[in-house]
Amino acid sequence: TGLVTVDPGFMNTASCESKITYIDGDEGILRYRGYPIEQLAASSTFLEVAYLLIHGELPTPAELDAFSERVNRHTLVHEDFRTFMGTFPRGAHPMAVMSSAINALSTFYPESLDPFDPDTVELATVLILAKTRTITSYVHRTSKGEPLLYPDYSRGYVEDFLRMTFAVPYQQYEPDPVVVEALDKLLILHADHEQNCSTSTVRIVGSSHANLYASVAAGINALSGPLHGGANEAVLTMLDEIKANGGDATDFMRRVKNKEQGVRLMGFGHRVYKNYDPRAAIVKESAHAVLEALGAADELLDIAMTLEEIALNDDYFISRKLYPNVDFYTGLIYKAMGFDRAMFTPLFALGRMPGWIAQWREMMTDPATKIGRPRQVYTGEVARDYVSADKR
Ligand code: CMC
Repeated sequence: TGLVTVDPGFMNTASCESKITYIDGDEGILRYRGYPIEQLAASSTFLEVAYLLIHGELPTPAELDAFSERVNRHTLVHEDFRTFMGTFPRGAHPMAVMSSAINALSTFYPESLDPFDPDTVELATVLILAKTRTITSYVHRTSKGEPLLYPDYSRGYVEDFLRMTFAVPYQQYEPDPVVVEALDKLLILHADHEQNCSTSTVRIVGSSHANLYASVAAGINALSGPLHGGANEAVLTMLDEIKANGGDATDFMRRVKNKEQGVRLMGFGHRVYKNYDPRAAIVKESAHAVLEALGAADELLDIAMTLEEIALNDDYFISRKLYPNVDFYTGLIYKAMGFDRAMFTPLFALGRMPGWIAQWREMMTDPATKIGRPRQVYTGEVARDYVSADKR
């Protein structure tokens, strides 16, 4: 124990070995199970990527059909669960609702909690993937006080998620194929990112042999912070503020560089990427395509591009290797799709779910796993005697 050293933020501590996701931060490389993110974003689908992350290989067509069918069949939630989802106050932040809902889900499926039985773990995996889709749409609905719809088994994962989120009851609704494809791609980009804050949280909670629901619910809470998943929401707030102040990006950047009141350029910088975040490059392209296809020109996109332009040519950002991360442009796309700002981080959670599940499963089956229990360097008082209240 004399050799313990403090490593704030675990900058230099590997918590595990993993075969799931590879990142080379200097080169801007991201691969799931060896497949480059660019190829997956261009050619795969979210459920296929989920299968890949969780099972290690791309599914055959028959395997993918069986997996999609199984997930689809479990999208319905218990009526009491729907009632439960309706009990949160209007205006509750969707991330709080979402983590509570996923945690509560375990109480409805006690037969899916054994972390060591492979069939049970597979059941929990399918239940969580299926119901997160429904829950995320309900999170949106309840935040607006709108009725909760039932899933439609005949539709695909993303397509039906959009229908359940946006359709007006008893009215015809067809999601725009441009939106379906763009959202599918965004979910793929978010599906895993090795040992980030929320994934490490999922692993450390699971390391106590807590069940999958409890572990991923904790991941959702970790993701809610503005330095992590909450950044996509924070970016739009920042862009709005700049717009409200007359759209002067240069003045905002001056404040960032002077570190005025700790103001940061949200959506910039990353612990691992010291080069362009490869996800950000794909998202940026998609932002232009989606906004154009939807005819949703947005002045905020111009402000964002100006900020990026300034940053990429400014010594403050260059010397610190700060580039746009995945969150810089995603909010603009979600906004154009019709999502409220508070829904941006729940969408991140929907996308990250397969990664959390894959990482939890890898950990539970790794013989090297031990309960997560870091050490500390104590800097408090040395031993002293209790002082009775009248002598203090
Ligand atoms: N704007 C201005 N300065 C920054 C920024 C930023 N966005 N990010 C880092 N810096 C500066 C920081 O002030 C520090 O400067 P100095 O050396 O003078 O003290 C230096 O760059 C290093 O920053 P750090 O905070 O030590 O780096 P970190 O690895 O601990 O933090 C980060 C990584 C992502 C938390 C941070 O870059 C940040 O706060 N970014 C803004 C929030 C954000 O976009 N988060 C999303 C991350 S990606 C997706 C996700 O995880 O959800």
